[in-house]
Amino acid sequence: MVEQLNWVPDTVDTGKPSMARMYDYALGGSHNFAVDREAAERVLQANPDGRLGMYANRAFLRRAVRFLVESGVRQFLDIGSGIPTVGNVHEVAQSANPDCRVVYVDIDPTAVIHSQQILAGNGRAAAIQADIREPDRILDDPDLRALLDLDQPVALLMLCILHFIPDDQDPAGLVGRYRDRLAPGSYLAVSHVTGDDDSESHANAMNVYSRVMTQVNLRTRAQVAALFAGFDLVEPGLVFVSRWRPEPDDDTTTALYYYSGVGRRP
Ligand SMILES: C[S@@+](CC[C@H](N)C(=O)[O-])C[C@H]1O[C@@H](n2cnc3c(N)ncnc32)[C@H](O)[C@@H]1O
Repeated sequence: MVEQLNWVPDTVDTGKPSMARMYDYALGGSHNFAVDREAAERVLQANPDGRLGMYANRAFLRRAVRFLVESGVRQFLDIGSGIPTVGNVHEVAQSANPDCRVVYVDIDPTAVIHSQQILAGNGRAAAIQADIREPDRILDDPDLRALLDLDQPVALLMLCILHFIPDDQDPAGLVGRYRDRLAPGSYLAVSHVTGDDDSESHANAMNVYSRVMTQVNLRTRAQVAALFAGFDLVEPGLVFVSRWRPEPDDDTTTALYYYSGVGRRP
C-alpha cells in the first residue's frame, strides 16, 4: 500500500526508495515511506555504526557553518542538501547572524518541496530542484540570484554528495566549474566517504547501498584532497569528520569513514 501524505508532490514515485528519504529515516526524520525504511535498514544492518556516521556528518555541517559565519561569510549554497531533518544550514547560520542567506539545492523533489515548506516566510532562504552536474544552471537560477550575490564570497557546501559522482564524470572538474564562478574569499566544505579506514562493515554497507540505490565511489584521502584544487584548506586540513574542529565533549572516534574539510578560495 502506498502512503499518501501532503508533503509529497504527485510526481514522486513513492514505490521506489529515495536517497534523501532513506537518509532522513536513518537520521530519525519522519519524511520517508516503508520502501525507504526497508532499503535503509538493509544498509544499516550491514553497518550498525552507520547512523553514528550520519550524525557525525550533520555535526560537522553545524560546526563548519558556525566557523564560516565567524569567518565573515553571509551567503551559503548547500548542494545535495537533502530533507532538512536535523540541524539545517539556515537555522545554524541565521541564528549566528540573521543576515545570512541560504540556497538549498537537491535533485530529489521530496527534499525540495519539504525544504520549501519549512522555508515559507523566510525571505533569506530558498530551495531549488537541480542536478549538481549543472553548475551554470544552478548558479544562474533566478531564485538563487535573488538571494546570492556571486560577486561576494559564498560558502559552497557539498556534504555527502560528491561520492555519488563517478570518476568518469570528473568530480574535481565539476567542483572547479563552481569555484571559477565564485568570488575570492569564497569557501568550499566537503564531506566524502572513504575506504581508507579499512572497515569491513563499512565497505559491506556501501556495497549494499550501491545495490539498492546508487553506486557509491569510496575515495582515498589524496582523491578527496584533489576536490579542493584552487582552495586553501583551513586548519585542521582534511580529517575524519568527527575530528574537524571538535567541541570539548565531542566523540572523535566515530565516523572514520568520512573525510571532511573546509577550503578558502584565495
Ligand atoms: C546522503 S544525502 C546528504 C544530505 C546532506 N548534504 C548531508 O550531508 O547531511 C545526499 C543528498 O544528495 C542528493 N543528490 C544525489 N545526487 C544528486 C545530484 N546529482 N544533484 C543534486 N542532488 C543530488 C540526494 O537526493 C540526497 O538528498
